[in-house]
Amino acid sequence: MIKESGTWNIAMYIWDENQTEACLQLNGAETYVNWVDASGSNQSTLYHFPTQNECMVCHQSSSTMSPIGPSIRNLNRDVQRNGSTLNQLDHLQALGVLGGANANQEAQIPDYKDVSVALADRGRAYLDMNCAHCHNPSGWDIPAGKDFDFRYEPAFDQTGIESGKDRILTLVQDGEMPFIGVTLSDEIGIALLAEYLQSL
Ligand code: HEC
Ligand code: HEC
Repeated sequence: MIKESGTWNIAMYIWDENQTEACLQLNGAETYVNWVDASGSNQSTLYHFPTQNECMVCHQSSSTMSPIGPSIRNLNRDVQRNGSTLNQLDHLQALGVLGGANANQEAQIPDYKDVSVALADRGRAYLDMNCAHCHNPSGWDIPAGKDFDFRYEPAFDQTGIESGKDRILTLVQDGEMPFIGVTLSDEIGIALLAEYLQSL
């Protein structure tokens, strides 16, 4: 993703087997990938490189292309820089990369795997990261996005989680949500969502 004249441009390049050359591929592609997981088991899946249109499904905000990860709530955390612990928002502002954010007043998304964090916050963090890029008021609103706002910041009663909790869990357990991009089940995430939603 490159921002030029105020607009984000996207393009996907796929590296060759030798990792020496990457070629533009706008129509998507598929390839088998193999790896050894944390428990030492062999895993493989058919990985799908998104098409240009699929990029837009997840990355749109009010119908224009937009980054997802570098949100204030994600960046607002402590990092190690030059041997000391700093708030990342403060650090980026000191570098002149970012302006106008007061770390103390901004939301701070927790690590959903951190069991010392309250279950409700971990559940909300997981829904934010995995679902909110479509299910938010300026996301992909065809046809159901407007029912939910899974971003971390809104008050709980604005999210639709309470009334949707059974559907949310069923669709995630059945691998039907997220709507695209699912090739493997996220067992840790599904277990967290089950615990969170059943606690409501
Ligand atoms: C299924 C949803 C989905 C699709 C399709 C998708 N992305 Fe993303 N993308 C994400 C999410 C979610 C993140 C944020 C990940 C994070 O914060 O760790 C992300 C992150 C990125 C980033 C890092 C900057 C950022 O926005 O956080 C780039 C660059 C990117 N995607 C490019 C693309 C391109 C190019 C395509 C199409 C070839 C594409 N993505 C398709 C969901 C998607
Ligand atoms: C790539 C965009 C996208 C992502 C990411 C996504 N969804 Fe969806 N979601 C949709 C679309 C589109 C529909 C409507 C699907 C349909 O009607 O067949 C939908 C429908 C739903 C519904 C049913 C709504 C209804 O009215 O019946 C629930 C519940 C849901 N999503 C939950 C989730 C959860 C939980 C996640 C994250 C784990 C998630 N979604 C991630 C696009 C997305």
